[in-house]
Amino acid sequence: MHSKAGHAISFASRRALCKTPSLSYSTRLLPFTRGNHTQPQPQQPPQSTNSRSDSTTHFGFRTVPTEEKESLVKGVFSSVASSYDVMNDAMSFGVHRLWKDEYVGTILNPGRRGPVKCIDVAGGTGDIALRILDHAREKYADRDTSVCVVDLNPDMLREGETRFKKTMYHNTSQVSFRVANAQELPPNEFPDNTFDLYTIAFGIRNCTDVPAVLREARRVLKPGGTFACLEFGKVGNPLFAQVYESYSFSIIPLMGHILAGDRASYQYLVESIRRFPSQPDFARMISEAGFATGEMREGKGGAWRDMWGGIASVHMGVKM
Ligand SMILES: C[S@@+](CC[C@H](N)C(=O)[O-])C[C@H]1O[C@@H](n2cnc3c(N)ncnc32)[C@H](O)[C@@H]1O
Repeated sequence: MHSKAGHAISFASRRALCKTPSLSYSTRLLPFTRGNHTQPQPQQPPQSTNSRSDSTTHFGFRTVPTEEKESLVKGVFSSVASSYDVMNDAMSFGVHRLWKDEYVGTILNPGRRGPVKCIDVAGGTGDIALRILDHAREKYADRDTSVCVVDLNPDMLREGETRFKKTMYHNTSQVSFRVANAQELPPNEFPDNTFDLYTIAFGIRNCTDVPAVLREARRVLKPGGTFACLEFGKVGNPLFAQVYESYSFSIIPLMGHILAGDRASYQYLVESIRRFPSQPDFARMISEAGFATGEMREGKGGAWRDMWGGIASVHMGVKM
């Protein structure tokens, strides 16, 4: 579990502190296209808020005891870790890169107002962290922005660490990796009011208790700090939704089977997308967690911005 690398990258502590920057909520959401989120939702999953052994939650389309979900999710990502980046490209035909580029480069624009201290939760193999650091450096000659990559799964982080070893950020204070649960970031390692920017990309839908994740995000952010979430959403156009649904449920698990020898994990991934709340419902959760958001609608001045007709969407909030 150890990194040979220096102080900045350590799995050994499994829970250590990382600190980061501030992006003011540049409500710079671009002009958006209105989404019409009418796609039927699967039955709403119970959001567990406790660990009673009689409580249940969803794991894809399955109902499982709440306390089991975390280890099931961990199993999925341990299983996909080594093929995760390749599979992302294959399943999305590279489109996930465009979404992430837009999320980081256009919407967050790190470094614009000086160095930021970031935490990238459910950061996996470091896709977002690398974009944040590259963007700040390439666009603003900023080498002081830093990212703490946090994930439940050490296998995913290990892939990230390997990737960062090939970059100039390796062994610098600009990046660190920590194993921790988004729902309960250890306060001794992640104190209150620490970060300027909290990002979570394609991670929150895997968490058992989304309100707990949002609470923790708010706790670790500095006042004025930005919460930003990139996640799969609901497609507004019914025809496009149908095509997307067929593709998701027929092709993606098959690709997982053929390319990664793992159909079940990819079946879970598409089911988890279906189970996640719609954009308006998730926006309300962010607001209820105490973040200031835009108006409860998609687009400019709204709480979220859709990409590709709602396949993915970006939600933002500011800790007041
Ligand atoms: C689909 S991957 C996304 C990785 C990366 N953010 C990206 O965009 O490529 C989801 C990640 O969420 C992590 N994860 C799931 N539940 C978590 C939790 N409760 N706390 C922290 N990370 C979690 C998984 O281990 C996995 O690495």
